[in-house]
Amino acid sequence: MSKNFDLVVIGAGPGGYIAAIRAAQLGLSVACIDAWKTKDGKPAPGGTCTNVGCIPSKALLQSSEHFEHAGHHFAEHGISTGKLSIDIGKMLERKNQVVKQNNEGILYLFKKNKVTFFNGLASFSKAVEGGFEVAVEGDKPETLVGKQVIIATGSNARALPNLPFDEQVVLSNDGALDITSAPKSLAIIGSGVIGLELGSVWRRLGSEVTILEGLPTFLPAADEAVAKEAKKAFDKQGLKIELGAKVGEVKTAKNSVTIHYTNAKGEEQTLKADKLIVSIGRTANTNGLKPEAVGVQLDERGAVVVDGDCRTSVPGIWAVGDVVRGPMLAHKAEEEGVAVAERIVGQHGHVNFGTVPYVIYTSPEIAWVGRTEQQLKADGVKYKAGSFPFLANGRARALGDTTGLVKVIADAATDEILGVHIVGPQASELISEAVVAMEFKASSEDIARICHAHPTLSEVTKEAALAVDKRALNF
Ligand code: FAD
Ligand code: NAI
Repeated sequence: MSKNFDLVVIGAGPGGYIAAIRAAQLGLSVACIDAWKTKDGKPAPGGTCTNVGCIPSKALLQSSEHFEHAGHHFAEHGISTGKLSIDIGKMLERKNQVVKQNNEGILYLFKKNKVTFFNGLASFSKAVEGGFEVAVEGDKPETLVGKQVIIATGSNARALPNLPFDEQVVLSNDGALDITSAPKSLAIIGSGVIGLELGSVWRRLGSEVTILEGLPTFLPAADEAVAKEAKKAFDKQGLKIELGAKVGEVKTAKNSVTIHYTNAKGEEQTLKADKLIVSIGRTANTNGLKPEAVGVQLDERGAVVVDGDCRTSVPGIWAVGDVVRGPMLAHKAEEEGVAVAERIVGQHGHVNFGTVPYVIYTSPEIAWVGRTEQQLKADGVKYKAGSFPFLANGRARALGDTTGLVKVIADAATDEILGVHIVGPQASELISEAVVAMEFKASSEDIARICHAHPTLSEVTKEAALAVDKRALNF
């Protein structure tokens, strides 16, 4: 006997669980299926983000930042700690507890919103009269029929060819978030978001970290001024980043790894480390889903093909989040999930890709929204830009963290804000003002004239907006 729903959502990561809740709020009967289980076999909804992504990485960034502050910054406040030590087991336990609270929070929200949750692996069986049959394989096998289906099956870490993750020596994000003692030496391939965030965690905890990056440019997606400032800060911290590295053979042993690579000058190099994190991007995940059973089309990289509104090639089946085109970010997945639920009931769900914020939670944090100076130049757009350093901000001085700057870029003719780029303390929070401003099509003049509380870091954004017209007040 099948169980029938208006909507079946496959995947309970940020794309899927948010879509399920929004659809239930809109009056649909909703099932959400997710395969993730804890090590002891309990359902663990929340996807990559909750289990092995956003949440645990931020928990470890927080713990390691406390350790770094205690070791290097407390003394200037007159605080002495004696000999400092860290219990990494306890740090991991705390991280796991934070994850568990989030898993349980989602189960609570499903109950509250009357979303029926199934823990198991979903696969398409066939199209049936008025919908699609989906099989759930798990402790309790089920057959569900959804009038509509949302695929939100996320992504997996990409491995190097011939170097599978063993999660002991060669680590994906899963293993990198569960190292039980700081390795003496840690190699990382890829200086993208994961490489920088997790590289920072283990450097702060005492590992000698070397990141090998294939591209000759550091963080090419970020504004050049921001990338340059961030690189300077990472160099100073001792996070070694080698650009233009061509990785060749990688040999693994029980407790070490040897990486042969050619550096930017074309010289053959060897790097030996206790562990290796491979963070070279992620690939869309449709493992076990059998999209071909209902004719859902995938592209050459395995992502589900969708139009601008997240419709797949099969009417009635939608796809959101990491499994489709666009940035692999939790908040992008959530926005798509809400928009699709609203479209299903005939509303006009909307996602503005031009105002999706990007954040890297290192120290200094890096955040931006909109276009960079190099993109505007390439597009032939005439713009004006203003920057302001945290060094000239009273709150940053009081915090003891004056690294970085805010840069505001506005259209030369209309003054509409085209991009805001931040490297510095709490950039992840500061960027929200810029997102709101851009959503409302604000000008730099608007931000410059808005009263910002003193003393706050947000005054740096105001001053950068003033600097667009060369009238910063405190610099
Ligand atoms: P996922 O979160 O991957 O969820 C997909 C779910 O579907 C999973 O639970 C999976 O088990 C389930 N599933 C898959 N196939 C099936 C099936 N056939 N049947 C049943 N269930 C299935 N993004 C940010 O915005 N901010 C961050 O700070 C951030 N930090 C990150 C840190 C790391 C280390 C990593 C790896 C990623 C990070 N991300 C971050 C990216 C973010 O995790 C993803 O963009 C986000 O999780 C995508 O959401 P999703 O719902 O599309 O997929
Ligand atoms: P990434 O795309 O951010 O970075 C991958 C890096 O690896 C790039 O710089 C690329 O040039 C490099 N690279 C690729 N192949 C290589 C090779 N063979 N040798 C050397 N370098 C190579 O991918 P990452 O860090 O794996 O993260 C995956 C995704 O997860 C990100 O794109 C992001 O969307 C998401 N994420 C988001 C976070 C956030 O929002 N704060 C945090 C962590 C992950």
